[in-house]
Amino acid sequence: MGFPKGFLWGGATAANQYEGGYISGGKGLAVADTITGGDGIHGIQRKIYLELADGTKTSVGNREEVPAGAKAYVDPDVYYPSHVATDFYHHWKEDIALFAEMGMNVYRLSINWTRIFPHGDDEVPNEEGLQFYEDVFKECHKYNIEPLVTIYHFDCPLYLANEYDGWVSRHTVDAFEKYCRTIFTRYKGLVKYWLTINEININTNFMMNGVHEHISNKQNAEQCRWHLFVGSALAVTIGHEIDPNNFIGLMIAHGATYPYSCNPEDVMCEIETAHTQKWFYGDVLCRGYYPAYKVKELEREGIVIHKEPGDDELLKKGVVDFYSFSYYSSATYAAHPEQIKQVEGNQVRGLQNPYLKASEWGWTVDPVGLRVNLNQIYDRYQLPMMIVENGLGAIDKVEEDGSINDDYRIDYMREHILQMKKAIEIDGVDLIGYTPWGHIDVVSAGTGEMRKRYGFIYVDKDDDGNGDLSRSRKKSFFYMQKVYKSNGEDLD
Ligand code: BG6
Repeated sequence: MGFPKGFLWGGATAANQYEGGYISGGKGLAVADTITGGDGIHGIQRKIYLELADGTKTSVGNREEVPAGAKAYVDPDVYYPSHVATDFYHHWKEDIALFAEMGMNVYRLSINWTRIFPHGDDEVPNEEGLQFYEDVFKECHKYNIEPLVTIYHFDCPLYLANEYDGWVSRHTVDAFEKYCRTIFTRYKGLVKYWLTINEININTNFMMNGVHEHISNKQNAEQCRWHLFVGSALAVTIGHEIDPNNFIGLMIAHGATYPYSCNPEDVMCEIETAHTQKWFYGDVLCRGYYPAYKVKELEREGIVIHKEPGDDELLKKGVVDFYSFSYYSSATYAAHPEQIKQVEGNQVRGLQNPYLKASEWGWTVDPVGLRVNLNQIYDRYQLPMMIVENGLGAIDKVEEDGSINDDYRIDYMREHILQMKKAIEIDGVDLIGYTPWGHIDVVSAGTGEMRKRYGFIYVDKDDDGNGDLSRSRKKSFFYMQKVYKSNGEDLD
């Protein structure tokens, strides 16, 4: 009963939200380094400053479209949260010791492509960048923490975005292939758990993938998707070839989706939304080909994807070893949504669920939805699963004595872990690991804020970059320590 022996308990971060050192040690710029802070509670988007093809300067919101030919740049007078982030680059030893103290036996982190290849497609890799991650992985092993490495987490090299339109171009896939070969070779024996592309299902815009015109030009969006799938399949194939012990998974933003009512039209609406939002990506990466509903959609839209010879075979060969996903919330979907209140979520919007409450950022809190997901995914693919992101973004108050009493976060964690336990004990799903998001405070991806904190470890930094970056343990740190050290038995 309960969590299996050897269950992976951990935490998760991404380089561009945590590392800082944005041009240290030979690192080049990623698109993420050109995105300002925003304000999620008041709906103010992060911004990207651009130089247009005719030389004029402008800016767009991070969810908006970047015009063809525009180049993003770093404005010296603007504050960019990724540049220092919460400074893992200079605190990694101290932080990994804290992770070990919390009882983690796995740590999900991403490699910043531009730390290895500053432009994305350089002739030779940057040795200082390679060494940095090697040191980090060795430090993890010192504490018996297994690294779980995301190869690509929202950090398209700026050069590839500006000059090649990011993942729309085959050049980016070729550069990615070389990057994969380099890291799989260098970290052989140090890393065995890998994720190919973070949240591959919400990845067609400029911020994530350097794609200009991702809204007005559906061809671009579909070509980018195809290239991401090819990139993921290449990563799996190369990873297995270099070391058959590598265990390589996909990563999907997998919120729970429900019909708003039992009206059959709402049910159908949810099926279509779920296909588009999430199943399409799992279907391709777990089965190795486009599902019928996508083939029909492309036919209807008159979109023909440009493929290279051998791509279809590669997709089949490069299917993943396991399914990993992020889970924060659920949403409902209706055929006639006009009168129903919209809710926010992890990059996607849906409709309010009258049975559930939401976080300060409007993300619906739904622990049972996690069990629903685990069941649905396991029913569909029968693959081992990891939950590689989950948690509550909230504003924390530091008391006079320095303590942070985040009981709201403890409640969130307890309820979600309970549902995981039920899914294992009652439903028999094959869940092998859990790495809550931002177990140490990091910059928010969606809003660029610091005050939207997920951590069990607090980092002293605010939205304007003030703070001494010191670390402290929140109340939730001790709760998670208890959970981890009891292998999920002690949840009180
Ligand atoms: C996922 C990402 O979208 O959710 C993370 O993989 C991100 O990078 C996390 O930080 C939480 O979202 P946000 O917008 O609250 O940071």
